[in-house]
Amino acid sequence: AMNVHMYRHWTVQENIRRLKDRGVEFIDPVEGLLACGYEGQGKLADPADIVEKIQSLLVKARDWSGRTVLVTAGPTREPLDPVRFFSNRSSGKMGYAIAEAAQRRGARVLLITGPTHLRPPAGVEVTAVETAEQMYEAVMSRMEEVDVIIKAAAVADYTAVQVAEQKIKKSSDQLTVQLRRTPDILAEVGRRRRPGQCVVGFAAETEQVDRYAQDKLVRKGADFIVANDVSRSDIGFDADNNRVSVFGKDGFVETWPLMSKRQVADKLLDLVLHQFFKKGQE
Ligand code: CTP
Repeated sequence: AMNVHMYRHWTVQENIRRLKDRGVEFIDPVEGLLACGYEGQGKLADPADIVEKIQSLLVKARDWSGRTVLVTAGPTREPLDPVRFFSNRSSGKMGYAIAEAAQRRGARVLLITGPTHLRPPAGVEVTAVETAEQMYEAVMSRMEEVDVIIKAAAVADYTAVQVAEQKIKKSSDQLTVQLRRTPDILAEVGRRRRPGQCVVGFAAETEQVDRYAQDKLVRKGADFIVANDVSRSDIGFDADNNRVSVFGKDGFVETWPLMSKRQVADKLLDLVLHQFFKKGQE
């Protein structure tokens, strides 16, 4: 609570937004007569509202306890020679936000991650991989023990047929590199899954987001596909915010407003808990 002009000041608002992005919860001040004599938004919220908000946070706090979640995150790197690789613009932020949120809400979390600059969330079991093939092996070896698999990684679709043992020298004007398909991890997870296991994939599209996402839902045997438009630089790849649409197997479709990746993570966990595990509806 504070003076309305102080509260509305962009510096304060910017700092509040940053803290929210880091997962800090706010109970906003309300409109009314302020201690300094001004009228406006800045008044301490009603104590009963504060207590209610804290209680709801505490109840929600551990709603994933007893479940194990496997999250994949980040890009993969496909080597060409000892010093070069193909990769993509994924930062890993979305997958790390999901791992962090699931851990905070009481789940056991396995994070299988390609190379990123992010610090893994505390309390999460991390397996670091580089290539799509390594990510495939890591996911297959752990998938049996988990309740939910969330594939937020941006896996390379192709890898070099031959990896040069020595650094490739620039001996010609043109260089042709032959690529072959990598294993589709999500599709294989969709095939091997046991009943009761929930599978969530992501779809990064630059056009016709809905059509391609619906198609991936079927092709990959996923329960949900979270689709985002990566043609925009302010959302999706490497951004802090994301606007996504979620498609479910039973015809479920929801488009969420622009929000931080942390908020997307929490909403996605809510969705899996309520739609798939029917928690709170028994
Ligand atoms: N995925 C995967 N293994 C791959 C490629 C993709 O597991 N070899 C997963 C991603 O982790 C993501 C989902 O599949 O959850 C969709 O990824 P995307 O790149 O959008 O789709 P693709 O299958 O690569 O299809 P396309 O390139 O035709 O859009």
